[in-house]
Amino acid sequence: MKEIGIALLGLGNVGLGTYRILAQHAKDIERRLGARVRVHHVLVREPGRSRPEDVPSALLTHDIKTVLANPEVSVVVELMGGLNPAREYLEQAIASGRHVVTANKALLSAHGEALFSQAVARGVEVHFEGAVCGGIPIIRTLREALASDRVESLTGIVNGTTNFILSAMADEGATYADALRRAQELGYAEADPTLDVSGMDAAQKLCLLASLAFSARVSPASILVEGITGLTPADITYGREAGFVLKLLARARRSPEGMDVRVHPAFIPAASPLADVKGGFNAVLLQSAALGASLFSGLGAGSLPTGSAVVADIIDTCRNLLAGASGRLPLPCAPHMQDVPLLSPGER
Ligand code: HSE
Repeated sequence: MKEIGIALLGLGNVGLGTYRILAQHAKDIERRLGARVRVHHVLVREPGRSRPEDVPSALLTHDIKTVLANPEVSVVVELMGGLNPAREYLEQAIASGRHVVTANKALLSAHGEALFSQAVARGVEVHFEGAVCGGIPIIRTLREALASDRVESLTGIVNGTTNFILSAMADEGATYADALRRAQELGYAEADPTLDVSGMDAAQKLCLLASLAFSARVSPASILVEGITGLTPADITYGREAGFVLKLLARARRSPEGMDVRVHPAFIPAASPLADVKGGFNAVLLQSAALGASLFSGLGAGSLPTGSAVVADIIDTCRNLLAGASGRLPLPCAPHMQDVPLLSPGER
């Protein structure tokens, strides 16, 4: 049977989930593709550290040169997170003609345009479903299913850690510190949870969603971001008494004057479909001209949910490779796209 070689960069929470789904669903993936996906390398920072038994130590390397020197590797899957060395490694992978899958929202929201341009010039694909809302196929939905429609607004709960914290505080009376610790244990939080609680992780994801929804460039630095660190248990209690639920919302809206893009805590009516999204779940509510309202929800963080999105991207990449149709993937930022003006806080 034909084989497609891949390399995983990173064996953290998502890296391990990805490896396990590839191993445990190998037969299904083979049936779907008519080819086998073989992991040749797993790049880790410290190869000597103890690792889960199901990852053969022979796969581990700390040297990107070993990975890129292997001609069997056609797809590089970056799950290290952070800006560097992830950016450098992805640039090298693209320059060497490898297709790329990444779950790195920080990198894509800051340097996506440069990476996408490089990939287009080299004729390779960049997939990033795992970067936003874990297992919910929201990138595909915006890029493919709704390519025919005109999205007017997008309202989402796109950070599992903060949603877990707010749900645990509201429903169980948990303290902020205890809820955050549990979110970390469940593998929801970023290595630096400040990114979650400050709203920055949600802002990075919202930038990717808004870029796709509105075919526009949006960077986290240009939007209003407020996290949950200033909230108190009293805010949650008073909201509930008045029939509201407190959520960290990511919102993007199109208006004749431009785009309004922001992340902040908001009281939402208890009857809203987003009020029932609890724990590590995420949801995105879209309003579009032809379809009307549509809601997408599921586990938005964690090893296997995010791993499943990454593996779906690997399968798509392999399918295109096998069909000889690689490099035709529409990307959020392309040279023909116009800048849509972003409203400043004072104009909203
Ligand atoms: N830290 C992120 C979250 C992980 O809590 O949603 C998934 O992107």
